[in-house]
Amino acid sequence: MPILTLESTCDETAAAVISADGQVLGQCVATQETLHERFGGVVPEVAARAHVERILPVIDTALTDAGVRGAELDAIAVADRPGLAGSLLVGVVAAKTLAVAWKKPLVAINHLHAHLYACQMASDVPVYPCIGLVVSGGHTSLYHCTSPLDLDYLGGTIDDAAGEAFDKVGAMLNLGFPGGPQVSRLAAQGNPKAHAYPRSMLKEPGYRFSFSGLKTAVRYSIAPPGVKDFSDIELSDQAKADVCASFQAAVVEVLVAKSVRAVKEHRCGHLIVGGGVAANPALREALQSAAEKHRFDLVIAPMNLCTDNAVMGAIALEKIRRGEFASLDLDITAGLQR
Ligand code: KG4
Ligand code: ZN
Repeated sequence: MPILTLESTCDETAAAVISADGQVLGQCVATQETLHERFGGVVPEVAARAHVERILPVIDTALTDAGVRGAELDAIAVADRPGLAGSLLVGVVAAKTLAVAWKKPLVAINHLHAHLYACQMASDVPVYPCIGLVVSGGHTSLYHCTSPLDLDYLGGTIDDAAGEAFDKVGAMLNLGFPGGPQVSRLAAQGNPKAHAYPRSMLKEPGYRFSFSGLKTAVRYSIAPPGVKDFSDIELSDQAKADVCASFQAAVVEVLVAKSVRAVKEHRCGHLIVGGGVAANPALREALQSAAEKHRFDLVIAPMNLCTDNAVMGAIALEKIRRGEFASLDLDITAGLQR
């Protein structure tokens, strides 16, 4: 019988219906981008309230899309970590309520593990064991994954996440929110060598990342010190594209170098990559070249499963196979967990 999966960790309200063999029967994602745009970032209180309004219609749409009734479900799964407290609460309370009403078992999903599981969903062969790179708005983390559910944290960002840096650069260039897709689009027309931005921690051993120095370097290349309001800064389209291309090149170089290092140091022939920034075409291309050069297997999450969605919640099937269910005491684990 199918399962229902819910996702509300940040600013996307999503539900999916997945069959026992992993087929997507129905799904729905309600994005909140327009709500947060005028603030230039996700406002937690606004996000939580929007989830409350949307979660039931989103669940209804996914079930209708699948032609499945609540009573026909096998289990209800929900991302309970990590994320914004108010956002997580809405999904978890909805899942618990439906589990009681429909008398179904509950499954708790780790959102970061789910981002990587999107790669397994795109592959006909097992992708685990592997090195996993999660690059999203909240995380830039490398893991040694022995299974979809057994992940050892190798290292990650000590300040901004890669997606956050993309969004901040987009904001400095007045490109709207979230800036990632816009920066990536403009970068395609720019010169990646126009600015020599720093590649922080590139040479440092281990798997730590840092993007705040890069962000600051971009900031000073756009406007002189003292300027606080970037809406007054006038740059030509080409100048903006050059900033985007140079910034993107710096992020991509570090992400690829550390991922290749993890693959080599762990003598692991597989790399999987998930999260919103994995939708970046330059990153996808650079990872592909690195995989050919260093001869490892690479699976990047399909474009439609990079940013937040409930389909990747199919990882719940792995938990069900292990008999790992959550109780109705399930609570959220907020914050930037590893
Ligand atoms: O995984 P996700 O939807 O949410 C989190 O779990 O954080 O990732 C969202 C992030 C945002 O920072 C967004 O700007 C970034 O992914 N992103 C991109 C691209 N598409 C989305 N960053 C760079 N290039 C893209 N094409
Ligand atoms: Zn995410």
